[in-house]
Amino acid sequence: MEKIRIQKTTAPKPKCDVSKVGFGTVFSDHMFIMDYEKEKGWFDPRIVPFGPFQISPAATVLHYAPEIFEGMKAYRNPEGKIQLFRPIENVKRMNVSAERMCLPLIDEEIMMEALKELVKVDQDWVPSEPDTSLYIRPFMFGTDEQLGIHTPYHCIFSIITCPVGSYFPEGVNPVKIVIEKDDVRAVKGGTGYVKCGGNYAASLRAGEKASAEGYSQVLWLDGAERKYIEEAGGMNVMFKIDGKVVTPALMGSVLSGITRKSIIQILESWNIPVEERLLSLDELLDSIRTGRLEESWCCGTAAVISPIGELAFDNIKYTINDFKTGSLTKKLYDELTGIQWGKRPDPFGWTVPVI
Ligand code: PLP
Ligand code: COI
Repeated sequence: MEKIRIQKTTAPKPKCDVSKVGFGTVFSDHMFIMDYEKEKGWFDPRIVPFGPFQISPAATVLHYAPEIFEGMKAYRNPEGKIQLFRPIENVKRMNVSAERMCLPLIDEEIMMEALKELVKVDQDWVPSEPDTSLYIRPFMFGTDEQLGIHTPYHCIFSIITCPVGSYFPEGVNPVKIVIEKDDVRAVKGGTGYVKCGGNYAASLRAGEKASAEGYSQVLWLDGAERKYIEEAGGMNVMFKIDGKVVTPALMGSVLSGITRKSIIQILESWNIPVEERLLSLDELLDSIRTGRLEESWCCGTAAVISPIGELAFDNIKYTINDFKTGSLTKKLYDELTGIQWGKRPDPFGWTVPVI
């Protein structure tokens, strides 16, 4: 493996007050970059000062969007040390996305090394205030200067990081979510199960409409029948109905969230039944009307666990759990964040030390 070259900045930026910056608006001093050429494979891994890329106006990513990304966090534990949460899951998912989008795979060891080295170099950027972390965004895109539609043969893989607090301005308080009737996010056979930029671009219109109406997120229905619940714009969803936790099954159009997977494992260790299955909109609304929906939450790296206090569909608003954070939501939040921030034991062996 080629050694990572490190070029440190000569002009470090002043640190920010994390409680005052939005999500992903302030970036740390350095970034990781590695280039790819079809004949050479990946080469020249390096950590350099954060700054712009120079790419051709004909670069394929600007026209046909071969782009994938990941989202993960580095957490500062009570001893001041820094740890990652299940990073290998992000590395593996990046390669699942690469395979779907005809982008080159990355050696798992190289990506792990890059993540750890970058966080080490920018360790002073990992905040220590409660509920804050360093968000890590690995991403890859095709750069060939050629307008014919083709599999990219020149690519850049990069990692940038930013100190973050809560994703939602509501913090860990309940959020309002609207179920989208018209636009769809993904279909089976498409790219819903991968993290590619295009999925998010396609969801912007519904997101804008939701935001103008006072909602934090869109909850998507399946693209074929618009009958089944899928996921929210940047997070998975779970519903506690009749004592069981129900979450949409992964059938090709929903992203396999690492937070989702971790919550399922925690729930199973607590002997709370979890059902990964089709959940129709009718069943969900019926469970609300009949008082059987006890609590519900969104989950994802950025969102962590956010209780859903209101669901809206077709201009009807449904309040969940009196717009309060449910007891299981709170218990899960405390356990998951306890492990992530190193405040609780990690019985699953999920955390990976950086320093
Ligand atoms: N679903 C979508 C569409 C997402 O963008 C994300 C965020 O990454 C998730 C779900 C949650 O995934 P994870 O828990 O791995 O962050
Ligand atoms: C993440 O949770 O890491 C994501 O990529 C989702 C996005 C809404 C920030």
